[in-house]
Amino acid sequence: MSKLKMPASLSDPIINENAKIVLKRRYQRKDTEGVTYETTKELFWRVAAAIAEEEDKYKESSFKSTKLAREFYELMTSYRFLPNSPTLMNAGTDIGQLAACFVLPIEDDIEGIFDAVKHAAMIHKSGGGTGFSFSRLRAKDSVVGSTGGVASGPLSFLKIFNCATEQIKQGGTRRGANMGILRVDHPDIMDFIKAKERDGELNNFNLSIGLTEAFMKAVEKKADFDLIAPNSGEKVGSLNARDVFNILVQKAWESGDPGIVFLDRINRDNPTPKLGDMESTNPCGEQPLLPYEACNLGSINLGKCFAKGKNGHDSEVDWDELKRIVHLAVRFLDNVIDASQYPLPQITETVEMNRKIGLGVMGWADLLYQLKIPYNSQSAVDMGERVMKFVQDEARSASKTLATERGHFPTYVESIFGEANLGPYRNATTTTIAPTGTLSIIAGCSSGVEPLFALSFVRNVMDNDKLVETNSFFETAVKDAGAYSANLMEEIAKIGTIKKMEHLPEELRTVFVTSMDIEPIWHLKMQAAFQKHTDNAVSKTVNLPSNATKEDIWNIYWKAYEYGCKGVTVYRDGSKTSQVLCTGESD
Ligand code: CDP
Repeated sequence: MSKLKMPASLSDPIINENAKIVLKRRYQRKDTEGVTYETTKELFWRVAAAIAEEEDKYKESSFKSTKLAREFYELMTSYRFLPNSPTLMNAGTDIGQLAACFVLPIEDDIEGIFDAVKHAAMIHKSGGGTGFSFSRLRAKDSVVGSTGGVASGPLSFLKIFNCATEQIKQGGTRRGANMGILRVDHPDIMDFIKAKERDGELNNFNLSIGLTEAFMKAVEKKADFDLIAPNSGEKVGSLNARDVFNILVQKAWESGDPGIVFLDRINRDNPTPKLGDMESTNPCGEQPLLPYEACNLGSINLGKCFAKGKNGHDSEVDWDELKRIVHLAVRFLDNVIDASQYPLPQITETVEMNRKIGLGVMGWADLLYQLKIPYNSQSAVDMGERVMKFVQDEARSASKTLATERGHFPTYVESIFGEANLGPYRNATTTTIAPTGTLSIIAGCSSGVEPLFALSFVRNVMDNDKLVETNSFFETAVKDAGAYSANLMEEIAKIGTIKKMEHLPEELRTVFVTSMDIEPIWHLKMQAAFQKHTDNAVSKTVNLPSNATKEDIWNIYWKAYEYGCKGVTVYRDGSKTSQVLCTGESD
């Protein structure tokens, strides 16, 4: 617990109904009997105080911890910024593990594999998610030197990781999330592509295929590409790249898995190439990391950065407010690195060398609604690029300020920034766009840079709880247009979209679009716009109606490559028996 006392004048946070359920269930502290003893005010103060306290270590700091704790409290309780879930759950507690994202190496021997299983369990227990590359494991049926027997291959080990995860709840509240990546030139690639073809299989894993530039060129030319044995480095076969790509698309069409990541691109942006390659990302794909590296994330709610036009001026993004939030948020996230206790000494060491943080955004669709810009328009894409460039520039400037107060990250000199004489920075990366699955519920905003799934919908969360949500900006706009009625809202909750409701004003129908109204190309253009100014990656799912075709998915995967994305995930409505979000009708 922090030594900073909660000020008597601190105001109570205003919590929306859905957030109350989520906070109580997952975030507020409970005693050994499971009785919640922490109020929401105490929760946010616990986090604010624990993170602000780190400031006192830095004598050159421009902030006093008492003042900073209050600012952090205001930032979080006004839902302008929230740190990732493990920070909200664990800051100021004995667990003290505050990062959401980890990548662990899997070495090609039994000890290495089971070390990784154990390390993953430790990370899940503390609330983090883990990513692994299975690419170093020798192929199924290749020889095992010590016994003369044959190897089981990556897929059979993947099942062990999945099974272990099943039994461990993250921070005692949710099951662990994993990413499994296999390079496309691994001999077992076809088995891996098909690994989740049966519904419910490997359900604690997202799978992605690690695509290389060489492979993508071979797809274009319909050429063969080589399969390489990871243990010997020798060519052991070849496949037609176009055929492999087609099967990959087929499986993604069937079940949403596997996604794709462009490994060469991820490594082209590796800020510390001298420390090795990045082989995997965290579970949702937005955070590539080195082996044994962790990263904490945080998200700014862009819906709160809207300046209403005054005296006949157009409404705008509130740039001054956004800048203020970015600078405070970077300080917050850098302090989280110090406040966090990592589950393994190797992780502490890697994190402290590079000091990566991932500041991102949520509430993007909410901001567009307020600006009256349709998500599926070039103006929205241009605005996305402008907003993210601003966030990235300001985040780097904040990281520079921290470097003058606290010193640069230890590997700065050998990093790409040091070699190009940019910086010095406090953090090897500053920006990442997370899905904000739970943060957006707490903040009551649209998630990440996604369009709204539906203007009004039923959200299935945490086992059997169902939450009904209507977008507040939509409700206000309908009222302003004089079109509000209880019947109308009920109807919208059933079908989710107003696209075909011709009795509603045209402007409402063009601005208040939902993911199902949006052609896939706009999802990708938006992802690419944000990726352009994000150090790490952008979490984005291209949501598709159930009648989307394989060709649609082919085009999405191909365009993601052409547009410079680092990866992409698709989800076709109804292609899994359980999905996180659903409208009333499909429920
Ligand atoms: O909103 P919240 O902070 O809970 O998480 P998110 O933005 O949806 O996901 C960010 C990252 O948290 C994911 O990429 C995972 O690394 C991790 N995560 C996890 O470990 N387990 C989950 N059930 C969800 C997210």
